[in-house]
Parts: sequence; structure tokens; C-alpha cells
Amino acid sequence: MENSKQNASLRDSCSVSPWQNFVVDSSEKLIVAEVDLDKMYDCLIIGAGITGITTALLLQRSGQACIIAEAQQPGFGTTGGTSAHLNTFFDATYAEVESDFGRDSATLLAQAGKEALSIIKGFVKDLSIDCDLESKSAWLYAENEKESKQLKEILEASKRAGVEVEADDKNIVPVPFDSVIRYDQQGQFHPLKYIHGLLAEFIALGGLLLENARIRENIIEDGIHTAISNDLTIKAKNLVYATHIPPGVNLMSFRNAPYRSYVLGLKLKDENYPDGLAYDLQEPYHYFRTHIIDGQKYLIVGGEDHKTGHEDPERAFQNLKEYASQYYEVESVAYQWSAQYYVPVDGLPYIGQLPGVADGIYVATGFNGNGMMYGTLSGKIISDLVLGKENEYTSLFSPSRLKPVAGFTDFVKETADVVWHFFSDRFSSEELQELNDLKPGEGKLAKFEGRQLAIYKDDCGKVTALNPICTHAGCTVQFNAAEQSWDCPCHGGRYDVSGKVLNAPPTKGLDAVLISYDVRP
Ligand code: FES
Repeated sequence: MENSKQNASLRDSCSVSPWQNFVVDSSEKLIVAEVDLDKMYDCLIIGAGITGITTALLLQRSGQACIIAEAQQPGFGTTGGTSAHLNTFFDATYAEVESDFGRDSATLLAQAGKEALSIIKGFVKDLSIDCDLESKSAWLYAENEKESKQLKEILEASKRAGVEVEADDKNIVPVPFDSVIRYDQQGQFHPLKYIHGLLAEFIALGGLLLENARIRENIIEDGIHTAISNDLTIKAKNLVYATHIPPGVNLMSFRNAPYRSYVLGLKLKDENYPDGLAYDLQEPYHYFRTHIIDGQKYLIVGGEDHKTGHEDPERAFQNLKEYASQYYEVESVAYQWSAQYYVPVDGLPYIGQLPGVADGIYVATGFNGNGMMYGTLSGKIISDLVLGKENEYTSLFSPSRLKPVAGFTDFVKETADVVWHFFSDRFSSEELQELNDLKPGEGKLAKFEGRQLAIYKDDCGKVTALNPICTHAGCTVQFNAAEQSWDCPCHGGRYDVSGKVLNAPPTKGLDAVLISYDVRP
């Protein structure tokens, strides 16, 4: 693979996405201001992905004094590893939303999708952001009779919701199909160029960005948040967790299941790059699109998603390569990367006031595979809530919603799994494994001197031992060989091989354990 293990510190991952080169190559550095410790900010936004930055910019534009605290660098999380689709249809289909939430809700969702797309287009135009934004049609195809029945339901429900879609007779990818539908006016862009454009405007308007500032604690007194990061304290009237799941054990931990998604950037031997977006209906699904970076076309192929910490990521990459090679003449794999997203139990994201805590704490999570759209929409909804403005989507996406119960089957399935890990992992131990058996770059759980440890061997043969108990809520982490990380199967917390937090909700790293064992050659 051509672009492997470079710039790894720019993302929560060992693998490199094609978007990361922009950050390295960009001569335009963001000005990161000093925090004014005496100042009372209107809003502290935690997380500088698309959700946090959109929220911050909309608030700053409305005259609010905002500060973004990012644990690493902007786009370090899923925004730096997205496949960057801009769709007005979602992983929870209009047929599902209509059935589970009612027809009005499906119509409202369609409207929300159009609004999110128009916010992105508006920013790109107003701020002249050069982010490869292109309008594309999207084809959704069925490969058998059963899928065709599902596709027909999606087509009809999409139309009822007010989305422009029609049956087509051609597909843009060389996969045999039974039926296909087409949504026009969809899009794609370069996510890091886009958020850097928003950030530049946020900073120009007086907003503050703090990098490498993980918020470890938030104390609320008289409605004021005092957030503590390293040796800094930040005071704010409102606080937004744009971090997927907020830290600590809260309702969101049990209403969302973490998934990993896999993507390849392929160079082809011929010019058969699809002009548009294409998606199948398989489980897990696949998608295709084309992106041109520095004059080079790449076929972006994604899918093979699975719950974090549950399956073999290397196998997922291999499956994806084999799948793509069935249909395309692949010259080389230029990129392969994976990213994390959260599946909400009833299909729709949770955007708004975090339930069960003081007023003025907001959350945006459960975006499924539609993070660029829901992240943008979250910016609009949360900024309206902070500003005390009406927003017609608040009830549909409310994090406090208890109904409908149509997602109940999934809810039981997802949370049962979380609960199983939550309780049993703390008391079970893996078999004793000999450290000598570890290969360089390999990690595993092992019982050592009566204690379960997360053991990792680096390329020099040096072994690092960590306490494998996730600092969030006590589940046992699993090794992710593809990303060289320790991933928690409960709520998606992830750590690098030294134990440092890569993905919230944990805020504290895994403790190192001293072991007296030398396996160096
Ligand atoms: Fe929640 Fe690990 S126990 S992320």
C-alpha cells in the first residue's frame, strides 16, 4: 500500500486517509490563540470535528464568544476518516423512519437533510472554501428480488417524504443489479479542507481554538461550567460535547453502539472510475465513488462495517479488497483506512440537551454513517438551542426521546451486547499466553503473574503492558491490529499502544503496568 502509517498523529488511527495530506501540505496554519482565563465564554465546544466547528461558527457569527477545546487537532476523529458523502437519504431509510416515527417525521427528516446540504453549500460559497465540493447523483441498487422489494419501499417512502428520487435503468458501477433508483443533487467534498475553511472564519470572527486540550472534568456551579484541561480552566455558560459519546457513563452510552467502517482509495488500471455515488443494500453494505486529489483519481470503496472490538479489522480490509477486485481492474491500493461511527438504537441521531444533567449541556451523537450531514445539522440545532431560538427539528432528534418503540428489537440487541461486556469483562480472564509468541506489531490480552494485561510488542521487540480495563466504565479493551490500537467493545473508547486516549468517552488513558520480562532479541 502506498500511503501507510504516515502522519498517524493527525488521526485517531494508524491508517492514513487521503484527506490527511492536506493538513501536512497546507502552508496556511491556523492561529491558535491563548485562552483568556478570566473570561466567561458563552459556549465551550468540546471537539473540533465537523459538528463542533459548525456549531462554534454559527454561534460566533451570532455574536457569542466561543472557545473550542480539541483533545488533539481539528479533524483528528471521524471527520478525518469519513468517506465524505453528502446525501439527503440516510442509513435509516425513509421507509424505516416512516414506519417507526410516522410520516410527518419522515418528511421532517427529508427537510433536515436538504437544510444540512444547503448549509454546507452556503458556507462553501460565502467563505469561498476550496474543498472539492461537487454535486453528484447517487444510485442505490438491489441485487436480488428481496432487496428489490426493499428498494421499492425506499423509493416510495422517499417520494412521500418529499425527496427527489426516481427509478433508473442503469447503474454506474459494474455490479449486476436487479433494480436501481437515483437521487439527484447529492454531493461529496474534502472534509478537512472544508472544516479548515470554517475554522479560519471562526478564528477571524474572534473564536478561540485550543488544540491538545482534553477536557478532564467539568464542574457546574450556579449554571456556570468550569471545565478543566491539563492546567487550564475554562469558564462558560454553555457546553457542547461534539465528541460522539460524552465522557462518563450516561444515557448516550447505552443508546448508541460503536461501529468501525473500512475504506479503500484505489488506483485503477483503466478509466472506469464511476461518475457519481453508488450504494448497495447488502448487510454490511458497500459503496463506491471517485475523488480526485492532486490530479490523481481514486476509486473510493467502503463498507464491511462491524461493531468496534468485535471482528478482525484486517479481515475486513481484505474482504473489501477482494470485493472491489471482483468489479474493477485495481492497479494499486493507494489508501486504506477505517473510522468510527455510532449507531443509534432507533435509527435517528441524538442532538440537543443531554438528559439527566444540568441545563446548558448539549450532545450530538448517533450519526450512523451520515456524519457529515448530521454533524452539520447538529451545528444548526444546537446553536439555535443555545441562542434560545425555535428549531423545528429539536423534538425529532431529542436525546430524551423515549418513543417510538419500533427500534426496540435493535435496542435489546445492541444494549444487551453492551451490558454483557459491561459486567462480564471485568471478571473474566483470557488464557495465559506466552509473551515470546507475540510478533512485532501484535497485541493481545494475556494473564501474567495472575493479572490480566493488554500486552503489545513493538517492532524492536519491546513489550508494553497496560491495564486492559477501559477507564470509562470498566470493559476490557481488544487489540485492533489494523490500527495498532486498543478498542473498547462497549462504547467505542480507543487507546493507542501506549495507552493514550484516541477516542472518547474515556478521558483517562490505560495505566501502564511494569512487568519484568525482556523479550528483545
Ligand atoms: Fe465505555 Fe470502554 S467501558 S468505552
